[in-house]
Amino acid sequence: MSDDTIKDALKMMPYGFYAFTTKNGDDVNAMVVNWVSQMSYAPRLLAVGIQKSCYSHGLVSAGQVFGLNLFLQADSDAIMSVTSGRAKKPEKMDNASFSAAPQTGVPVLDGAAAYIECKVTQIVDVGGDHDIVVGEAINAEVMKAAAPPEVLSLTELGWSYAG
Ligand SMILES: Cc1cc2nc3c(=O)[nH]c(=O)nc-3n(C[C@H](O)[C@H](O)[C@H](O)COP(=O)(O)O)c2cc1C
Repeated sequence: MSDDTIKDALKMMPYGFYAFTTKNGDDVNAMVVNWVSQMSYAPRLLAVGIQKSCYSHGLVSAGQVFGLNLFLQADSDAIMSVTSGRAKKPEKMDNASFSAAPQTGVPVLDGAAAYIECKVTQIVDVGGDHDIVVGEAINAEVMKAAAPPEVLSLTELGWSYAG
């Protein structure tokens, strides 16, 4: 506990841990995210909080597509290669193993259990340091079916991106 109870409470929220992948022309990227949720059944919309200053923000704004890659806990190594930002590690995607999702071409990282391809419907500036990127799910594939407790989340990694 700290003297910042807002931070303490926000850090208690459980989160998944995903790779958010983007493409614009020949340029592709993958970054790790946890601020993700489904936002609508019909159409099926996903919302992802994306930092305004990160490389992926520019790429998704220009390309208007993104993918969400899910991993099993047992495959956590597969996402670790993309935890650094592009500015710090410009060769990030040269060293990553991935294929292209069929409808949008966004990266599907090797070892992912499932991916969802989305077309951007809105990028909403909510007045903070992250924008909300909203996308309609247009295709998905499940390579390794699993129940949520088997899917990688921040809980078992002991990592936090909140507060
Ligand atoms: C555990 C964890 C969770 C993260 N979740 C998010 C997130 O939900 N949204 C976000 O914008 N950045 C998130 N980040 C930070 C980005 O991954 C980081 O800014 C990254 O360097 C951006 O990559 P890029 O510049 O190549 O796009 C998270 C980082 C970690 C370690």
